[in-house]
Amino acid sequence: MTSTKTRIAGFDFDNCLMNAAGVACMTIAELEAVKDSAAGTFVTKTATLDFRAGNPEPRYQDVPLGSINSMGLPNQGLDYYLDYLLELQEREPSRTFFLSLVGMSPEETHTILKKVEASDFQGITELNLSCPNVPGKPQIAYDFETTERILKEVFAYFTKPLGIKLPPYFDIVHFDQAAAVFNQFPLAFVNCVNSIGNGLYIEDESVVIRPKNGFGGIGGQYIKPTALANVHAFYQRLNPEIQIIGTGGVLTGRDAFEHILCGASMVQVGTTLHKEGVAAFERITAELKAIMEEKGYESLEDFRGKLQYIEE
Ligand code: SIN
Repeated sequence: MTSTKTRIAGFDFDNCLMNAAGVACMTIAELEAVKDSAAGTFVTKTATLDFRAGNPEPRYQDVPLGSINSMGLPNQGLDYYLDYLLELQEREPSRTFFLSLVGMSPEETHTILKKVEASDFQGITELNLSCPNVPGKPQIAYDFETTERILKEVFAYFTKPLGIKLPPYFDIVHFDQAAAVFNQFPLAFVNCVNSIGNGLYIEDESVVIRPKNGFGGIGGQYIKPTALANVHAFYQRLNPEIQIIGTGGVLTGRDAFEHILCGASMVQVGTTLHKEGVAAFERITAELKAIMEEKGYESLEDFRGKLQYIEE
């Protein structure tokens, strides 16, 4: 029997596909729809301590080869997501879900993480170090010193499974430097990648989103090669205990297959989910299974990380 089951941070999931934070995860109704789909789990919209309205609209635009967004971290505030997850873990004790979060300052990040640590939440936490869309706030994980300091402070008190959402890196030296930082910590996973920050999409003579004069994070087909490179670069460099979640450019089962071949243990769907709705999970799963069957692979372990190189 071909299976797309996977395991992250010691938790089992029936399917390796889930939403990417930011898509179909702002409200409980959206999260329930992902939960009840073919997805193996869901991640919430990145929560800040308090409700945020985010950037002015229009702030998300689907475009032919992907999407551009400058949402600015709109969300309902930590308590909304945490209360729901606590209720859900009573209702569905056999399943595990992800809570995404970040503070508007390092201090706020610690306040949030300490609340999660003190709560009964038994799921997986994803610390978003890569939002490109809050004016005046650079993507944290491009600053290795700050990232190292925050992780050092976090792991002094946070004992629950924790991973980080990363921006794409574009230089081999940066892969090396970032991995040297991440390998110092008991991270459950790194999630590669968030959108490619600060692209511009133009129709006729105008940008298509209002915030930041049109600059926004790029997702979808545009970013798959960058996402695969990041997944594989970290798969090669990180301690084996740190798993990889692959995100970026997943339209088809073939795209999910490539993420797993590069080393991903879980694959997130963002732009395609926004364009197609939760039915995308069933379609992509069926396509992935068909590829596995054709190749004689029964489980993800049969091909995870086994990307072939061209020898000299
Ligand atoms: C946003 O809310 O601006 C998108 C979130 C992200 O890219 O991390």
